[in-house]
Amino acid sequence: MLRLRLIPYTLTISAIIVFMFFIVSSIKYTSNPTTKIQASPPPFTLLIGILTRPDSYDRRHFLRLIYATRTQSTATFTITVKYDYVMKTDDDVYLRLEQLATSLSPLPRQDLYYGFVIPCQSMNPFVHYMSGMGFVLSWDLVEWIGASLIPLNHTVGPEDKLVGEWLNRGNKAKNRVSNKPAMYDYPRTNGRCSHDLVLDTIAVHRLKRWEQWLDVLTFFNVTNQVKPSTLYTL
Ligand SMILES: *[C@@H]1O[C@H](CO)[C@@H](O)[C@H](O)[C@H]1NC(C)=O
Ligand SMILES: *[C@@H]1O[C@H](CO)[C@@H](O)[C@H](O)[C@H]1NC(C)=O
Repeated sequence: MLRLRLIPYTLTISAIIVFMFFIVSSIKYTSNPTTKIQASPPPFTLLIGILTRPDSYDRRHFLRLIYATRTQSTATFTITVKYDYVMKTDDDVYLRLEQLATSLSPLPRQDLYYGFVIPCQSMNPFVHYMSGMGFVLSWDLVEWIGASLIPLNHTVGPEDKLVGEWLNRGNKAKNRVSNKPAMYDYPRTNGRCSHDLVLDTIAVHRLKRWEQWLDVLTFFNVTNQVKPSTLYTL
């Protein structure tokens, strides 16, 4: 009974989901006139859900600004009814969408479970589950979660760990990719899950303070294309 009461409470009070719609057109490979243009993997669509709290207005506004700032050469935004992949992430994560798209592009579109594997030191994507900082499921797995009885009977626990358990119990997600060191926690915030900012980053997690966001946005040159104005300071 307690369990049944907890679920709706958790959903309504602590979190709401902001959806971003994101379609990736073919990745552009640089080619010079003397070489053949490399065949691009087919385009794919990805739905990103960012978990946030109802009262985090400033964080949501900030995230919209950040993602609107980037000019996307590989991605366009769209709305559709079915995606190739669905990603769950949090509002304390900075995602580099182009790097994420490039990384997903050659991977299987089916039975895929992708992210940053927990525990921190694990390099085996089957041991044990992908961190809630950002995990991607192929659409067939999302449909399976919606239809299977396994999740219904296992609803208590951290959301990321539960998803891993459901997939294991259902013998699902034969394709697993843990993208270390491109995904990580902000330097010195979480032991072995943290390391210094690196050039080929896909996701940085645990950005709780504005100074940490500023550091990350500066490092990745995110605001370089924003024109100076007397209306704001960069
Ligand atoms: C889920 O739990 C119910 C009641 O406890 C049980 O009857 C059912 O077999 C379980 N289903 C699965 C898939 O474990
Ligand atoms: C940001 O720009 C500087 C200067 O152009 C460059 O050296 C650096 O590699 C860039 N950083 C990233 C993450 O692209």
